[in-house]
Amino acid sequence: MTVLERLNLGGDQTAVRPPHTGFGGYFESEAVAGSLPIGRNSPQKTPFGLYAEQLSGTAFTAPRADNRRSWLYRLQPSAAHRPFQPYANAPLLRSGPFDEVPPTPNRLRWDPLPAPAEPVDFVDGLISYGGNGDVAAQAGIGIHAYAATRSMKDRVFFSADGEMLIVPQQGGLVIRTELGVLAIEPLQIAVIPRGVRFAVRLSGAFARGYVCENYGAPFRLPELGPIGANGLANPRDFVIPQAWFEDRAVSTELVQKFQGRLWTTSLDHSPLDVVAWHGNLAPYAYDLRRFNVINTVSYDHPDPSIFTVLTSPSEQPGVANCDFVIFPPRWMVAEDTFRPPWFHRNVMSEFMGLIHGVYDAKEGDGFAPGGASLHNPMSGHGPDAAAYRNAVAAELKPHRIKDTMAFMFESRWVIRPTLWAVQTPLAQSDYDAVWQGFPKAELPR
Ligand SMILES: [Fe+2]
Repeated sequence: MTVLERLNLGGDQTAVRPPHTGFGGYFESEAVAGSLPIGRNSPQKTPFGLYAEQLSGTAFTAPRADNRRSWLYRLQPSAAHRPFQPYANAPLLRSGPFDEVPPTPNRLRWDPLPAPAEPVDFVDGLISYGGNGDVAAQAGIGIHAYAATRSMKDRVFFSADGEMLIVPQQGGLVIRTELGVLAIEPLQIAVIPRGVRFAVRLSGAFARGYVCENYGAPFRLPELGPIGANGLANPRDFVIPQAWFEDRAVSTELVQKFQGRLWTTSLDHSPLDVVAWHGNLAPYAYDLRRFNVINTVSYDHPDPSIFTVLTSPSEQPGVANCDFVIFPPRWMVAEDTFRPPWFHRNVMSEFMGLIHGVYDAKEGDGFAPGGASLHNPMSGHGPDAAAYRNAVAAELKPHRIKDTMAFMFESRWVIRPTLWAVQTPLAQSDYDAVWQGFPKAELPR
């Protein structure tokens, strides 16, 4: 079985070649034999007259270890377009600075987004929960959900504001990008670099999921420190598409997100026309089930940073612009330990979503798959009363947490909710009640 088949990637009939593997690797790929220049990036005469274009994901002078760029060889230059005009749809998409409403110190939780009544595609179905930082400062994140009922047809999107980490919760997505095709389904993720153009097709009638739009440093694998050379998300399990292109002379709408607003222009051809590319800046996908979970084999629940899949570092070592953290199936074997996530007040901000199953800190049904919660700095959170009661009474034998996948976007800055997020009927007005009913500790008399 090929890597392609194992990961269910390349659902599009045109993406039949196995993808590259290896996070952050340097790849080269050509969809037509002989289309990739050899020995130079920008020869006087390119093969077939393709247009050479460098796509920079970092400053030219970023240190070599951080530097990301790719060279694209395309049918038409991406510079050839008419002016962008303001775009009217996606009315609930927002960007940093998130200043519609004062940030609340209260803990927030939301029911899942319902399917839209009207046909809506991935772009128009984006709704922002909140975020932090500022797109202009290239710091912070935007946190969105999507609920879509149709594929993007002759429409292509890109964000000039940040890379997009897409976390499907329901329904598969076939993401056709400039650099190739990724097909993902729930329990898999995709990351589309800033500026890379893509179009999303739905595998079914309805697709819902989460998006972290990362304005800061591109996501990378976390350092492993004393864990050693292996573990957590292993580099070889990330897949990067092979070159793939469309040669279609059809009117195509190109929508971009720039400084928090959407803009649109129309092309007379598909911009997904990159015939060959080489470099280390490319979209990638990862199957969360591949995560090598590290946890205690003695006592105490380690900090959840042990579950970090990807991190966007800030200038301050160890303090992330954003960590993408998952809570996957795993064995719990800790002795004399309160095993669920403990009570916590954090200097960082925690936005959580649930892909499927039950999160082990909450036994009530208020945190549903497709739902979300937000715990901002210094807000007390942790197990609900039922989870606490059961955890302190449980017989501590090896226990497998199974059929679950929650995740967290954790950020150094307050996650400021949007007006929609605080006003939507999906916001649960009674979330605080999950922390009611704890009996007072009894001291000896
Ligand atoms: Fe926490």
